[in-house]
Amino acid sequence: MPSLFHLLTLTVLGALCVYGAGHLEQPQLSSTKTLSKTARLECVASGITISKMSVYWYQERPGEAMQHLLHILSNNTVRRESDVTLGKFEADKKPETSTSTLTIHNVQEQDAATYYCALWEAHSSRH
Ligand SMILES: *[C@@H]1O[C@H](CO)[C@@H](O)[C@H](O)[C@H]1NC(C)=O
Repeated sequence: MPSLFHLLTLTVLGALCVYGAGHLEQPQLSSTKTLSKTARLECVASGITISKMSVYWYQERPGEAMQHLLHILSNNTVRRESDVTLGKFEADKKPETSTSTLTIHNVQEQDAATYYCALWEAHSSRH
């Protein structure tokens, strides 16, 4: 039983792309989670109308390249690179609090990573 109580750290960092006036914050700079639980990482954008933006979430595991998990289009449609992350990672965006939340289900040791959120203006081209 004690072996179930592995702890791991999930960190979320904000990145702000394209939009100069706004500012991103991470209320929980790092959170330590028990395995097999659900983790929620928040990205708060102040000074931005988040409803008009696309929100991208990336994962960077120690020593690995940054990986795109999913993104939410301005119309709230969620897009993923592959279905591998289906049921594992979810994200939403709440205009009233200017917050995007990444939900990680069934947190495992391999989920220990830095998570980045990035906002893009909805009508700008992807880079
Ligand atoms: C949201 O926008 C995308 C890209 O423009 C489009 O493909 C998709 O059908 C839209 N979804 C809804 C629910 O309108």
